[in-house]
Amino acid sequence: MLKKIASGVVNLRGHDFKINVLKKDLIKKKKNLILAEIHGSDKLKSLNWFRKGYVIIDVFSRSEHLKNKKKINGYLANILKIKKKKIFDIENYHHFTNDKNHLEIVKQTRNLEPQFFDSIQKKIFSKICNKYKISFEKNKILEKEIAILRLNRPGGIKDLNPPHRDGYLNYWAKSLNIWYMISGSFNSCSLPIVPKSHLYNEKNLTVTKPGCFMNGIKYNVPTILKITRKKKIFFKVPKLKPGQVLVFSPFLIHGFGYNFSKKKTRSALEFRPMVS
Ligand SMILES: [Fe+2]
Repeated sequence: MLKKIASGVVNLRGHDFKINVLKKDLIKKKKNLILAEIHGSDKLKSLNWFRKGYVIIDVFSRSEHLKNKKKINGYLANILKIKKKKIFDIENYHHFTNDKNHLEIVKQTRNLEPQFFDSIQKKIFSKICNKYKISFEKNKILEKEIAILRLNRPGGIKDLNPPHRDGYLNYWAKSLNIWYMISGSFNSCSLPIVPKSHLYNEKNLTVTKPGCFMNGIKYNVPTILKITRKKKIFFKVPKLKPGQVLVFSPFLIHGFGYNFSKKKTRSALEFRPMVS
């Protein structure tokens, strides 16, 4: 028997992408509430960028950024077992892998040992905490803090996440999303976001359950298929400079980070500290 499909359209920089999920995976009973208001961190609500849902912060100088990138080049070269580490550049990652290897590599890079990125993480965290007078604490639900190195190969449709909100998973609801772009085309792509979408009411979103398929690939986070009264999910692709960091509410719709570059792998470090 054919499985029934539900479709939506994502728009990035004027390009349409079709997304399919299984109709049976959609949540039927929609709640009439704004999750960020109820389950989000109260501290975030008082910040000057909260209504917009995101902010871009200068953290590293250009030379500091290059140092960070070098460190990450070395880390990834180790995982890839590249002997001549000095010549490896993360921008060329796609030349050193294929679809099958990539899945093995991301199993390792989505669960980084935090000590390796300690100095980078520390500087980002202290900049944010000082600027906004907030502090971070240990996530009480998770056993360990996470740091992810996200790798998106040029045009890699299999490297994408669906449009989603991390806050749908209860252990991220009181966290802050931090996205630091390491490599890629800074002119053409970063992490797509939908400004102000953290304040969308659940009754206006068509969403799957967690652990379902989008375009044939299974994801932990629920896929957001549609926004009521909008023909497409229109994403904004914020322009970041090397050394800047994108900070956003865990309820802001983001993802579907298609890499428009033809030559460079986009990579980014992700942190999700809990706001205390
Ligand atoms: Fe996410």
